[in-house]
Amino acid sequence: MFADISDRYDAGNDILSFGTHRLWKQRMVRMARAPKGGSVLDLATGTGDIALLFSNSVGGSGHVLGVDFCASMIDHARARVNNQRPNLAFEVGDAMNLRFNDDSYDVTTISFGIRNVDDPVRALSEMHRVTRPGGRVVVMEFGQPRGVFGSLYRFYSSKILPFIGGLVLRNRSAYDYLNRTAAAFPCRDEFTALMHAAGFRHARWTSLFGGIAFIYVGDVE
Ligand SMILES: C[S@@+](CC[C@H](N)C(=O)[O-])C[C@H]1O[C@@H](n2cnc3c(N)ncnc32)[C@H](O)[C@@H]1O
Repeated sequence: MFADISDRYDAGNDILSFGTHRLWKQRMVRMARAPKGGSVLDLATGTGDIALLFSNSVGGSGHVLGVDFCASMIDHARARVNNQRPNLAFEVGDAMNLRFNDDSYDVTTISFGIRNVDDPVRALSEMHRVTRPGGRVVVMEFGQPRGVFGSLYRFYSSKILPFIGGLVLRNRSAYDYLNRTAAAFPCRDEFTALMHAAGFRHARWTSLFGGIAFIYVGDVE
Protein backbone atom coordinates (compact mmCIF):
# COMPACT_ATOMS: atom_id res chain seq x y z
CA MET A 1 0.00 0.00 0.00
CA PHE A 2 2.78 2.48 0.91
CA ALA A 3 4.64 1.69 -2.32
CA ASP A 4 1.42 2.44 -4.26
CA ILE A 5 1.01 5.90 -2.74
CA SER A 6 4.67 6.93 -2.40
CA ASP A 7 4.71 9.30 -5.41
CA ARG A 8 1.58 11.15 -4.21
CA TYR A 9 2.23 10.84 -0.47
CA ASP A 10 3.57 14.40 0.09
CA ALA A 11 0.78 16.04 -1.90
CA GLY A 12 -1.78 13.95 0.01
CA ASN A 13 -0.44 15.14 3.36
CA ASP A 14 -0.54 18.79 2.32
CA ILE A 15 -4.05 18.61 0.84
CA LEU A 16 -5.74 16.47 3.49
CA SER A 17 -4.18 18.18 6.52
CA PHE A 18 -4.44 21.68 4.95
CA GLY A 19 -0.68 21.92 5.50
CA THR A 20 -0.98 21.39 9.26
CA HIS A 21 1.24 18.29 9.27
CA ARG A 22 4.24 20.56 8.55
CA LEU A 23 3.66 22.55 11.75
CA TRP A 24 3.19 19.37 13.78
CA LYS A 25 6.42 17.93 12.40
CA GLN A 26 8.34 21.10 13.30
CA ARG A 27 6.93 20.89 16.80
CA MET A 28 7.88 17.24 17.14
CA VAL A 29 11.46 18.02 16.14
CA ARG A 30 11.65 20.87 18.66
CA MET A 31 10.34 18.57 21.42
CA ALA A 32 13.01 15.97 20.63
CA ARG A 33 15.73 18.45 21.64
CA ALA A 34 18.39 16.79 19.52
CA PRO A 35 21.73 18.38 20.41
CA LYS A 36 23.87 20.19 17.82
CA GLY A 37 26.28 17.59 16.52
CA GLY A 38 23.96 14.83 17.77
CA SER A 39 22.75 11.64 16.13
CA VAL A 40 19.13 11.00 15.20
CA LEU A 41 17.35 7.91 13.91
CA ASP A 42 13.96 8.49 12.25
CA LEU A 43 11.95 5.31 11.73
CA ALA A 44 9.12 4.84 9.21
CA THR A 45 10.64 7.97 7.68
CA GLY A 46 8.51 7.81 4.52
CA THR A 47 9.69 10.53 2.15
CA GLY A 48 11.94 11.93 4.88
CA ASP A 49 10.11 15.02 6.24
CA ILE A 50 11.28 14.50 9.83
CA ALA A 51 14.80 13.44 8.88
CA LEU A 52 15.19 16.60 6.76
CA LEU A 53 14.12 18.82 9.67
CA PHE A 54 16.59 17.07 11.99
CA SER A 55 19.36 17.43 9.44
CA ASN A 56 18.94 21.22 9.87
CA SER A 57 18.76 21.12 13.65
CA VAL A 58 21.78 18.87 14.37
CA GLY A 59 23.98 20.83 11.92
CA GLY A 60 26.89 19.67 9.81
CA SER A 61 28.67 17.82 12.61
CA GLY A 62 25.57 15.79 13.45
CA HIS A 63 24.16 12.82 11.64
CA VAL A 64 20.64 11.68 10.78
CA LEU A 65 19.47 8.35 9.40
CA GLY A 66 15.97 7.80 8.03
CA VAL A 67 14.76 4.18 7.87
CA ASP A 68 11.64 2.78 6.19
CA PHE A 69 10.70 -0.75 5.14
CA CYS A 70 9.21 0.49 1.87
CA ALA A 71 11.95 0.86 -0.75
CA SER A 72 10.03 3.30 -2.95
CA MET A 73 9.48 5.66 0.00
CA ILE A 74 13.26 5.57 0.57
CA ASP A 75 13.83 6.27 -3.16
CA HIS A 76 11.65 9.38 -2.89
CA ALA A 77 13.46 10.52 0.28
CA ARG A 78 16.85 10.11 -1.41
CA ALA A 79 15.67 11.93 -4.55
CA ARG A 80 14.53 14.88 -2.44
CA VAL A 81 17.93 15.21 -0.80
CA ASN A 82 19.84 14.48 -4.02
CA ASN A 83 23.18 13.95 -2.18
CA GLN A 84 23.12 17.58 -1.03
CA ARG A 85 23.20 16.84 2.70
CA PRO A 86 26.30 15.03 3.95
CA ASN A 87 24.78 14.62 7.44
CA LEU A 88 21.67 12.78 6.19
CA ALA A 89 21.25 9.23 4.88
CA PHE A 90 18.35 6.87 4.20
CA GLU A 91 18.12 3.10 4.21
CA VAL A 92 15.56 0.32 4.03
CA GLY A 93 14.86 -1.41 7.34
CA ASP A 94 12.17 -2.70 9.67
CA ALA A 95 11.34 -0.64 12.78
CA MET A 96 10.74 -3.87 14.71
CA ASN A 97 14.17 -5.30 14.02
CA LEU A 98 16.92 -2.68 13.97
CA ARG A 99 20.48 -3.51 12.98
CA PHE A 100 22.02 -0.90 15.35
CA ASN A 101 23.91 -1.49 18.59
CA ASP A 102 22.44 -0.52 21.93
CA ASP A 103 22.78 3.18 22.90
CA SER A 104 23.67 4.31 19.34
CA TYR A 105 21.50 7.45 19.01
CA ASP A 106 20.77 10.64 20.98
CA VAL A 107 17.23 10.75 19.66
CA THR A 108 14.99 8.18 17.97
CA THR A 109 11.68 9.18 16.39
CA ILE A 110 8.71 7.77 14.50
CA SER A 111 6.06 10.01 12.96
CA PHE A 112 2.72 8.52 11.85
CA GLY A 113 4.45 5.16 11.64
CA ILE A 114 3.92 3.33 14.93
CA ARG A 115 0.23 2.73 14.06
CA ASN A 116 1.35 0.79 11.00
CA VAL A 117 3.85 -1.64 12.48
CA ASP A 118 2.65 -5.13 13.33
CA ASP A 119 3.85 -4.97 16.93
CA PRO A 120 4.10 -1.41 18.33
CA VAL A 121 5.57 -2.52 21.68
CA ARG A 122 8.35 -4.34 19.89
CA ALA A 123 9.16 -1.26 17.77
CA LEU A 124 9.11 0.93 20.91
CA SER A 125 11.45 -1.54 22.67
CA GLU A 126 13.83 -1.33 19.73
CA MET A 127 13.70 2.48 19.86
CA HIS A 128 14.43 2.37 23.57
CA ARG A 129 17.31 -0.07 23.06
CA VAL A 130 19.15 1.94 20.38
CA THR A 131 18.79 5.28 22.19
CA ARG A 132 21.53 6.20 24.66
CA PRO A 133 20.78 6.85 28.36
CA GLY A 134 19.87 10.56 28.68
CA GLY A 135 18.40 10.52 25.15
CA ARG A 136 14.81 10.77 24.00
CA VAL A 137 12.34 8.76 22.01
CA VAL A 138 9.61 10.81 20.35
CA VAL A 139 6.50 9.42 18.66
CA MET A 140 3.82 11.31 16.75
CA GLU A 141 0.60 9.51 15.93
CA PHE A 142 -3.09 10.09 15.26
CA GLY A 143 -5.58 9.78 18.08
CA GLN A 144 -9.26 10.38 18.68
CA PRO A 145 -10.49 13.89 19.54
CA ARG A 146 -13.40 13.99 22.00
CA GLY A 147 -16.70 15.87 22.32
CA VAL A 148 -18.39 17.90 19.57
CA PHE A 149 -15.09 18.54 17.82
CA GLY A 150 -14.51 14.75 17.89
CA SER A 151 -17.86 14.17 16.10
CA LEU A 152 -17.00 16.75 13.42
CA TYR A 153 -13.55 15.26 12.96
CA ARG A 154 -14.95 11.71 12.69
CA PHE A 155 -17.27 12.89 9.92
CA TYR A 156 -14.32 14.51 8.11
CA SER A 157 -12.01 11.54 8.49
CA SER A 158 -14.55 8.81 7.66
CA LYS A 159 -16.38 10.54 4.76
CA ILE A 160 -14.48 13.50 3.34
CA LEU A 161 -10.89 12.31 3.72
CA PRO A 162 -11.32 8.99 1.82
CA PHE A 163 -13.46 10.80 -0.80
CA ILE A 164 -10.76 13.40 -1.53
CA GLY A 165 -8.11 10.69 -1.25
CA GLY A 166 -9.94 8.72 -3.95
CA LEU A 167 -10.60 11.71 -6.18
CA VAL A 168 -7.36 13.66 -6.10
CA LEU A 169 -4.86 11.04 -5.04
CA ARG A 170 -6.39 8.06 -6.85
CA ASN A 171 -6.26 5.81 -3.80
CA ARG A 172 -9.38 5.71 -1.69
CA SER A 173 -8.45 2.49 0.10
CA ALA A 174 -5.25 3.97 1.57
CA TYR A 175 -7.27 6.77 3.15
CA ASP A 176 -9.96 4.33 4.33
CA TYR A 177 -7.10 2.45 5.97
CA LEU A 178 -5.81 5.67 7.56
CA ASN A 179 -9.25 6.47 8.98
CA ARG A 180 -9.88 2.93 10.23
CA THR A 181 -6.50 2.50 11.93
CA ALA A 182 -6.38 6.04 13.40
CA ALA A 183 -9.88 5.63 14.88
CA ALA A 184 -8.81 2.48 16.72
CA PHE A 185 -5.22 3.19 17.73
CA PRO A 186 -4.48 3.71 21.44
CA CYS A 187 -3.87 7.35 22.38
CA ARG A 188 -3.22 9.46 25.51
CA ASP A 189 -2.49 7.26 28.57
CA GLU A 190 -3.30 4.08 26.64
CA PHE A 191 -0.33 4.77 24.40
CA THR A 192 2.03 5.77 27.20
CA ALA A 193 1.10 2.40 28.77
CA LEU A 194 2.55 0.74 25.65
CA MET A 195 5.70 2.82 26.13
CA HIS A 196 5.96 1.64 29.72
CA ALA A 197 5.54 -1.95 28.52
CA ALA A 198 8.46 -1.31 26.14
CA GLY A 199 10.76 -0.25 29.00
CA PHE A 200 10.22 3.50 29.44
CA ARG A 201 9.88 4.62 33.04
CA HIS A 202 8.90 8.18 32.08
CA ALA A 203 6.62 8.93 29.15
CA ARG A 204 4.26 11.84 28.56
CA TRP A 205 1.96 13.16 25.86
CA THR A 206 0.92 16.46 24.28
CA SER A 207 -2.21 16.67 22.15
CA LEU A 208 -2.28 18.44 18.79
CA PHE A 209 -5.37 20.20 17.49
CA GLY A 210 -7.76 18.92 20.16
CA GLY A 211 -6.53 15.32 19.98
CA ILE A 212 -6.38 14.72 16.22
CA ALA A 213 -2.80 13.70 16.88
CA PHE A 214 -0.42 13.34 19.81
CA ILE A 215 3.28 13.70 20.44
CA TYR A 216 4.69 11.25 23.00
CA VAL A 217 8.08 11.75 24.62
CA GLY A 218 9.89 8.97 26.45
CA ASP A 219 13.11 9.52 28.41
CA VAL A 220 15.75 6.84 28.16
CA GLU A 221 17.60 6.27 31.44
C1 LIG B 1 2.07 7.36 7.12
S1 LIG B 1 3.72 7.06 6.61
C2 LIG B 1 4.66 8.21 7.62
C3 LIG B 1 5.84 8.78 6.92
C4 LIG B 1 6.56 9.93 7.62
N1 LIG B 1 7.15 9.49 8.87
C5 LIG B 1 5.66 11.11 7.86
O1 LIG B 1 5.42 11.46 9.02
O2 LIG B 1 5.20 11.70 6.87
C6 LIG B 1 4.04 5.53 7.40
C7 LIG B 1 5.36 4.90 6.96
O3 LIG B 1 5.61 3.78 7.82
C8 LIG B 1 6.35 2.84 7.07
N2 LIG B 1 6.34 1.59 7.82
C9 LIG B 1 5.28 0.84 8.20
N3 LIG B 1 5.67 -0.24 8.91
C10 LIG B 1 7.03 -0.17 9.00
C11 LIG B 1 8.02 -0.97 9.62
N4 LIG B 1 7.69 -2.10 10.27
N5 LIG B 1 9.32 -0.60 9.54
C12 LIG B 1 9.66 0.53 8.86
N6 LIG B 1 8.77 1.33 8.25
C13 LIG B 1 7.46 0.99 8.32
C14 LIG B 1 5.63 2.86 5.73
O4 LIG B 1 6.39 2.29 4.68
C15 LIG B 1 5.36 4.35 5.55
O5 LIG B 1 6.38 4.98 4.79
